[in-house]
Amino acid sequence: MKSDRESGGASSRFASVNPYWETFLDELGLDMTGARGDGCYIEAADGHVLLDCLAGFGTANLGHAHATLSARFTDALQRTSLNVFPFECAEAQLALADRLLSLSSRRFQKVFFATTGAEAVESAVKFAMTSTGRSDVVAFRDSFHGLSMFASFMTGNPFWTEALPWKPGNVNHVDAGNFAALEDMLASRKIAAVVFEPVAGSSAAQHWTAETSARLAGLCRSAGTKLIADEVYCGLGRAGAWFGIDAIGMRDVAQAAPDMIVVSKGLTGGLVPLSAVLMNDGDFDAVFGAPGKAKVQGSTFGGNRLAMQCGLIVLDLVESGRLVDNSAAMGALIERRIADRFDGRLTLHGKGLALSLTPGAQWDINMADVWLALIDAGVLAMPNAASPRSSGSLRLSPPLIFGVDEVEFLMDRLDEALQE
Ligand SMILES: Cc1ncc(COP(=O)(O)O)c(C=O)c1O
Repeated sequence: MKSDRESGGASSRFASVNPYWETFLDELGLDMTGARGDGCYIEAADGHVLLDCLAGFGTANLGHAHATLSARFTDALQRTSLNVFPFECAEAQLALADRLLSLSSRRFQKVFFATTGAEAVESAVKFAMTSTGRSDVVAFRDSFHGLSMFASFMTGNPFWTEALPWKPGNVNHVDAGNFAALEDMLASRKIAAVVFEPVAGSSAAQHWTAETSARLAGLCRSAGTKLIADEVYCGLGRAGAWFGIDAIGMRDVAQAAPDMIVVSKGLTGGLVPLSAVLMNDGDFDAVFGAPGKAKVQGSTFGGNRLAMQCGLIVLDLVESGRLVDNSAAMGALIERRIADRFDGRLTLHGKGLALSLTPGAQWDINMADVWLALIDAGVLAMPNAASPRSSGSLRLSPPLIFGVDEVEFLMDRLDEALQE
C-alpha cells in the first residue's frame, strides 16, 4: 500500500487543504484539531491539557475564551451593522487610529489599516518607496516579515523562497550588527527603507539594544532612508512595553525612532485579522495626498468595522488589565527563575513575553527533543527554525495574562523535559 506521502496524502482528512500538515502533526503527536482553550491552557480533543506558551503565534494576548472579550465582541456584532461599506470611513477607524496614535505618544499622525502582517509590512514599504522615490529595501538575515510575495523575499531566510524561480532585484540582506555593510548599501542612495524587528520572533528573540537601534536610525536618517519597525509580533505589549522600540529603549537615545511602526498580531486578541502602519503626515501624503489618490492603496477588508471594534475592545482590556506591565514582570520572573533553577543549562533571550530559550554555552541540549518532551509534559512551545528537527531554540510567546502559577508550572515541566 502506498504511504500518504506517495499517494499525495489522498486519504488524509485534510486532503483538500494540506494533507502533509496532518502527517507532520501526527508524527509529532501534536494534532490540536478540535482543541478548546481556556485562559492560558488548551485542552486537546484527546483530553491532553497544555499550558499555552505560544498564544497563537503571539495573537491571543488575552488568552483563550476571555469572558469579557467574548461578551463585548458579541455585543458589538449584535449592535453594529458590520458589512463592508465601500464608500465610508468607518467611525471606529477614527477611534482605533486615535488610540494607536495616543499609545505612540503622538509620535505619528497617521494610521493605515490592513489585514495581515505581511500586507502591512509591504504597505509600509510602498509608502517608503513613494515618499523617497527610491527602489530598494534592506532587511536583516534571520528576520521574518511574512509570506506574501515581496515579504517572503524580505524575510531573511532562504527556506521560504528557495522553490521560487524568480526573485526581485531590489531586496538586500545584511547581518544585524554589520553596520559597515549597511552603510555601504545606504551609500548607494537607492535604499527606500530598512526594515527591522526590534525584538524578533522567529530568530531566537534576538533584539536590538537602545544603542544599536539608535545607530541604525541615525544611519537611515543621514541617508534619507525610511526606517520601518516591524512590530507585527513584538508590538502592543508582547515585549513588555506598548511598542518594541520602547521595550529596547530606542527612544531613550537621542529620541531615536523609526519612521513607521507596523503592528498586527496582538491587536485583536487572535479573533480577526487586522494590521496597521503608524506613520507621519509626510510619508502618508506621498501616497494619499490628493483626492484622486484617496484609494490608491488599500484592500477590501482593510479597516473593516468588525476588526476596528475588536481592536478597540482588545486594547481596552490590555490597558485595564495592566497586561503590558504584567508582560514585563512575568518576562523578568521567567528570566530569574531560569537563571536560578537551570544552572546555565538554558539561556533566555528576548523582552517581556517575546522570549526564546536556547541551550547554555557549554551544554549539548537538543531543543527539538526538549520541545517534544515539553508537549508530553503539558507545555506548548515552538522551535524557531523552519525545520524543527534542526532547531536550536524554542519560542515562548504566552498570553499576556500569564501569571506566577503558570511560570512555576513552566519551570517544573522544563525540569522534567531536561531529565529525559
Ligand atoms: C515580525 C513579523 N512580521 C510579519 C509577519 C507576517 O504576518 P502575517 O502572517 O499576519 O502576514 C509575522 C508573522 O509571524 C511576523 O512575526
